[in-house]
Amino acid sequence: MPLATLRQVLDEAAKGGYGVGAFNVNNMEQLQGIVGAAEEVQAPVIVQCSRGALSYAGANYIRHMIMAAAEDSSIPIVLHLDHGDKPETCFMAIDLGFTSVMMDGSLLADGKTPSDYEYNVDVTRQVVEAAHAKGVSVEGELGTLGGIEDGHGSGEVHLTDPDQAVDFVEQTGVDALAVAIGTSHGAYKFTAKPTGDVLAMNLIEEIHQKLPETHMVMHGSSSVPPELVERINNAGGKLESTFGVPVEEIQQGIRHGVRKVNVDTDGRLAITAALRETLNANPSEFDPRAFFKPAREAQKQVCMDRMQQFGAAGHAGDYTVLSLEEMKTRYAGSPVSA
Ligand code: G3H
Ligand code: 13P
Ligand code: ZN
Repeated sequence: MPLATLRQVLDEAAKGGYGVGAFNVNNMEQLQGIVGAAEEVQAPVIVQCSRGALSYAGANYIRHMIMAAAEDSSIPIVLHLDHGDKPETCFMAIDLGFTSVMMDGSLLADGKTPSDYEYNVDVTRQVVEAAHAKGVSVEGELGTLGGIEDGHGSGEVHLTDPDQAVDFVEQTGVDALAVAIGTSHGAYKFTAKPTGDVLAMNLIEEIHQKLPETHMVMHGSSSVPPELVERINNAGGKLESTFGVPVEEIQQGIRHGVRKVNVDTDGRLAITAALRETLNANPSEFDPRAFFKPAREAQKQVCMDRMQQFGAAGHAGDYTVLSLEEMKTRYAGSPVSA
């Protein structure tokens, strides 16, 4: 089936009251694990590529791989650019056939320095105008995540201001809004299980009250399961004690308008645990397929768990995927359009 757009998939998720997992992909095994999971539990899915993924795999190469996965599949699959650093990167992704892009104007193009509000509105609006003219969806970000370990973050946390969020959505016309509520990317998010004052779930409720029609996005939403950390360390790894975002908090967010939930680290941990264990248990094995098959299965398992926990399982067949042409018509005449 053709690729779906973020806008349609999140509109449907809002109707059904569930969240859709957005999983990062860098190689074939991750992609097959993610799409295999979505097929098995019949969930719509967002497959997202960071700039790091595009440079690791090759932008043209990876987009063909994802398009092939969608062609062979009967579930809605969105091809999304994660953390576009500047409008040109988003335009390049749109030209490659991405059906959704994130313009992360919360940071300057270096991906580190927090930007000012006017800059964020300006670059995001430029991307929305160009994207909507082609039926492509746009995610923006307001506020900054903590953590710099993966290169997407300033290290400073600036929580999203609900009143500014209202103005931002109005001025930019974004389809989805990433909010900063105290999460960060990577495995080392919290040194103890986060409580209400560490994770500002109240902001999500407040933004949802002010912007009931806006789909919110939670970045840095890996749960960092302790059993995966333990398996990695038991198999020779050296990860420090750490806490992720509890699934119950994400579920609370979903009850209040979170529709896209970004998960990368949990897949990385699952793959690493499987690889370490398989390599240790089979020291004479040298066929890469013997290692990558359990790694692919591990990615699939963690994705199936999240799809079920976010409530998306069973919803893949609820609707017919709209083409970019149809989405283009829907956008024509909206306040922010080309
Ligand atoms: O947003 C962060 C994702 O985890 C992607 O990370 O830039 O290392 O591919 P990456
Ligand atoms: P995690 O590092 O928590 O998986 O977050 C991924 C993410 O937000 C990608 O944009
Ligand atoms: Zn992110």
